[in-house]
Amino acid sequence: MRLKIFSLVTTGILVAACANTQKATASSEEKVIAETPADTTVFHSPYERQIDSILGLMTLDEKLGQLNLPASGDITTGQAKSSNIAKLIKEGKVGGLFNIQSAQKIYNVQKIAVEQSRLHIPMLFGMDVIHGYKTTFPIPLGLSSSWDMNMIEKTARVAAQEASADGINWTFSPMVDISRDPRWGRISEGNGEDPFLGSKIAAAMVKGYQGSDLTKDNTILSCVKHFALYGAVEAGRDYNTVDMSKVRMYNEYLPPYKAAIDAGTRSVMASFNEIDGVPATGNRWLLTNLLRDQWKFNGFVVTDYTGIPEMINHGVGADLQDVSVLALKAGVDMDMVGNGFLTTLKKALDEGKVTIDEIDTAVKRILQAKYELGLFANPYKYCDVNRAKTEIYTKENRDFARKVGAASMVLLKNQGHILPLKKEGTIALIGPLANNAVNMAGTWSVSTDQEKSIPVLEGLKEVVGNKAKILYAKGSNLSYDKTFETNATMFGKTIPRDGRTDKQLLDEALAIAKKSDVIVATLGESAEMSGESSSRSDIEIPKAQKDLLEELLKTGKPVVLVLFTGRPLVLVDEAKTVPAILNAWFPGSEAGLSIADVLFGDVNPSGKLTATFPRSVGQIPLYYSHKNTGRPLQNKEGKFEKFRSNYLDVRNEPLYPFGYGLSYTTFKIDKPQVDKTVIDVNDTMTITTKITNTGNYDGAEVVQLYIHDKVRSITPPVEELKGFQKIFLKKGETKTVTFKIAVNDLKFYNKDLDFVYEPGEFEFFVSDSSTGTFTNTFTVK
Ligand code: BGC
Repeated sequence: MRLKIFSLVTTGILVAACANTQKATASSEEKVIAETPADTTVFHSPYERQIDSILGLMTLDEKLGQLNLPASGDITTGQAKSSNIAKLIKEGKVGGLFNIQSAQKIYNVQKIAVEQSRLHIPMLFGMDVIHGYKTTFPIPLGLSSSWDMNMIEKTARVAAQEASADGINWTFSPMVDISRDPRWGRISEGNGEDPFLGSKIAAAMVKGYQGSDLTKDNTILSCVKHFALYGAVEAGRDYNTVDMSKVRMYNEYLPPYKAAIDAGTRSVMASFNEIDGVPATGNRWLLTNLLRDQWKFNGFVVTDYTGIPEMINHGVGADLQDVSVLALKAGVDMDMVGNGFLTTLKKALDEGKVTIDEIDTAVKRILQAKYELGLFANPYKYCDVNRAKTEIYTKENRDFARKVGAASMVLLKNQGHILPLKKEGTIALIGPLANNAVNMAGTWSVSTDQEKSIPVLEGLKEVVGNKAKILYAKGSNLSYDKTFETNATMFGKTIPRDGRTDKQLLDEALAIAKKSDVIVATLGESAEMSGESSSRSDIEIPKAQKDLLEELLKTGKPVVLVLFTGRPLVLVDEAKTVPAILNAWFPGSEAGLSIADVLFGDVNPSGKLTATFPRSVGQIPLYYSHKNTGRPLQNKEGKFEKFRSNYLDVRNEPLYPFGYGLSYTTFKIDKPQVDKTVIDVNDTMTITTKITNTGNYDGAEVVQLYIHDKVRSITPPVEELKGFQKIFLKKGETKTVTFKIAVNDLKFYNKDLDFVYEPGEFEFFVSDSSTGTFTNTFTVK
């Protein structure tokens, strides 16, 4: 093997990769244009010479092989050497493989590519490392609620460290789809509803995965997904149609993808949905004009799983060849599982439907990624079994996960300061999620050893030690509906159905409740009630658990609801009747400990919602940065007004707004001061405010700046997040918080899709959530 690489190096074909990862440098001021006949085959790379030399040696089959990304299939279970995929690899027909784990297995497969294929080209090994690898962090929606960019970046760093130690060199993350529809199960995988916050998180994740040097053995390629607009599927039904104006697209949905590209992500995944009637996978405007010409992205584009053949169902091609041609011409470089590029492009080339230049460009982009990762220099750089033994699921990583889990929780209600609980007396822990390990990591945790996660019961017992007594009862099943329950507990994330009747389960729960001083009801969604293909039309806590909760409340004992969910839920009943609600999301590997830390006040909750919690499904889509309409409500109390934009049966406001979350302490934010009230194009305005911890606990607050452009050429949102800082304050402490605002921060895409600012008056407030009253105004000249 060494000899072969050496001989290629000496003939000048392979040269060790250097650390020079190119970053996209698109200017945000570029004018956005409609589809143009851009040349898809333009390719510039620091590795151009090496790539051209390899390309010159490749047969057409070998070229198409580089564009082929199958799932690992039988190779994960069967013998690497004898599997079908191994045969394809030997023939040079596989560019990368995904869903294969373990440094040893990946070594074995890489060895086939590097030693037994004609050109010895190493492979990419991808995986959905979404919120951690073995050490699992909260689901992304939860993680985003921490509003802590350093922490978020570090979770991606730890994930890359662990994944790379186990052979993986490419993650299908970050998922940055803005979503304002909690019916959509995949809202759990993203960062909520806001483009400003979403962009910051996108950049932090890319930095975390890729670091500053991809040739290191602990950095991996990131893949921003799902490009684009997947979070806006109609009616929240997964894989459904998206239809959106360009103005909304540019201002509200595209920014996080752009931020990931500007942060240097080296790959992009096309989404399942259509845009302007053309599926993203075959959408040349999206994948070439926007992504490459305007945003200057020069990495590679991969489809989502079977994205190419699915275009037949979409109705834009009659057969696999048709849709493969469409995808290649649109700007797709790699075909995930679709088998379209590998099996049809040769014929398409013969028939003149694609050009060899188009195929070569895609191949070059894949080879470039392999150079950037340093795989030609050392194909086994991620296959050190010793690293796998020492760097994965370490105590240090798990301690960090415990901290992140706690930092992501959102305290929704805490009437009468029930929380934090004292470590004393008897505590009844009740609910179908109270003693379950496998659901704690939440959805999209395919690399995690689910059963190792810490259940709530175990976490509580460990944290209270012998100071308090914990009694446990299941209380109810997840749902009364067995079929629903089966569909909602897939992939090994079971909540075994109890053989006892509902009455027996309840009686047991009530019996322990009676013996206790406080009840902790651990209820909500199972892990797989959100995530891919887990849309819901009813987003309340399942009835079986609501009934249980009602009975627990009737005991008269104080009740704390620890909520598991992958989406904003409708919690109107609970908000009325339950004194304390702690939204835990799915906290990850150390779930039970993270929850116990917050329940007992060892950690003061500081999470803030990044997606609005509606009062009713009928309000969806509901988000803080909506438009005013021509007929906004006049009263602040939400009373119905005829011929105004409102409902007969529900008020307009959400139950819990964007940016909302309580703490065990209280904070006072002073009216902000500004250094100028008129700003010119080159000016920066400084907004200063003071925040004081006025309560009895140390704690952190997310100080949020919202700006409203009062008059502009396209209707402005009523307010937009333009800055935030998470500040830690000891009790009694005061700190000064400063935001800088320049004209550039006030720009938007106008009706011609020019990125502009318009002079005029703006107003703003600084608050602890998106609900605030404007306190200041300023003018842009
Ligand atoms: C999902 C992607 C994921 C891919 C590979 C698809 O079904 O939509 O998010 O990366 O599978 O597992």
